Amino acid sequence: MSRKLRILQVGCGGRAQSHIAAMLASDVVELVALCELDPARLAATGDKFAIATRYTDMATAIAQTKPDLVDIVTPPHIRLSIVQAAIDAGAPAILIEKPIALSPSECRALTALGENRLIAVNTQYQWMPHWQQIWDMLRAGALGQVRAIRASTGVNILEQGPHILDLALTAAALSDLPDPQWVMANCDGVEYFATTPVPADTSAVIGMGYARLWFNAGASAPLVPDESVIWYQQQVEIIGARGRIWVSLNQGWTAWIDGVFSQGATGWPHDDELAQGALFAHLQRVLVGNENWQMFPTRIQVAARNQGVMFACYASAISGKRVEIQPDWDDAIVPGIVRA
Ligand SMILES: NC(=O)c1ccc[n+]([C@@H]2O[C@H](COP(=O)([O-])OP(=O)(O)OC[C@H]3O[C@@H](n4cnc5c(N)ncnc54)[C@H](O)[C@@H]3O)[C@@H](O)[C@H]2O)c1
Repeated sequence: MSRKLRILQVGCGGRAQSHIAAMLASDVVELVALCELDPARLAATGDKFAIATRYTDMATAIAQTKPDLVDIVTPPHIRLSIVQAAIDAGAPAILIEKPIALSPSECRALTALGENRLIAVNTQYQWMPHWQQIWDMLRAGALGQVRAIRASTGVNILEQGPHILDLALTAAALSDLPDPQWVMANCDGVEYFATTPVPADTSAVIGMGYARLWFNAGASAPLVPDESVIWYQQQVEIIGARGRIWVSLNQGWTAWIDGVFSQGATGWPHDDELAQGALFAHLQRVLVGNENWQMFPTRIQVAARNQGVMFACYASAISGKRVEIQPDWDDAIVPGIVRA
């Protein structure tokens, strides 16, 4: 068996607690140190998990611990600058959180930084056990020709769109559908990531060859039956010639294939804990084992493609037209969405 993956944890805020717990529960990764700007948070997290090696400066932490992977769990408005700083300090591979960026130019810059090294994105849902089972079903062609996908979240497009689109577009790719080609979208209302405006509600039709993806992020999302928590208002439905698979974040999944019904449970945070551990185990296989890092499922190139679909929603809403997806959106579409 190959050795453990050595990980430096940067950021000890809310989400990092789940990353740290998953690392400590794993027998294929080793958490070598914590790094956090805020000394009180660093002390609280270090004491909670009994981690003695602690830093407040990331460059020093990377130089002294020489990790295989730097796990950066910080807010999106500093994503690009902190990834650049980690690379400058010698990080050989990096895991970042979603959303990867707040503007098209940041997306392009991050993609360029990921050309020669793995920059992986923590859209961990696709490692949940039921999704792993569904990927196997799609690989085996269980649904026949897939004609439509419906994917939605009750919160805004940048907040949960990265997770939902990652699932929907992974399903599309495993069903041999082409990458998204065009978007026709409308947006309503504005929310903010710090000072960056984000459409509060987005409704889009996305073209992928003969198939369509219907995507909603915000109040227009269909409601998950029996779900009262807005964060859990997430569902993906994959519709094929032989049946359909429906998956919610917290109210189970069901499949009807060739007239046969099956179902299973889903539950947050239980599935999240398993997914986070499985994601780290997959990173161990590509960074220490011999799997190809350039095929990592949530590599920055894939996440940037997905974020390009989100920015195409902005562009379509602003122009009032169907738009072809392209990588060169102007950053002006971000403030432009306020007036759309
Ligand atoms: N994948 C998921 O399911 C999931 C869930 C929740 C949050 N997130 C994402 O995780 C990211 C972080 O969210 P959060 O709630 O943990 O934020 P947070 O503000 O609670 O924590 C971020 C921490 O990073 C620290 N930090 C900032 N710059 C640093 C630096 N240079 N060196 C060391 N530490 C630094 C801050 O001091 C802070 O403690 C966000 O992008 C959020 O969207 C993902």
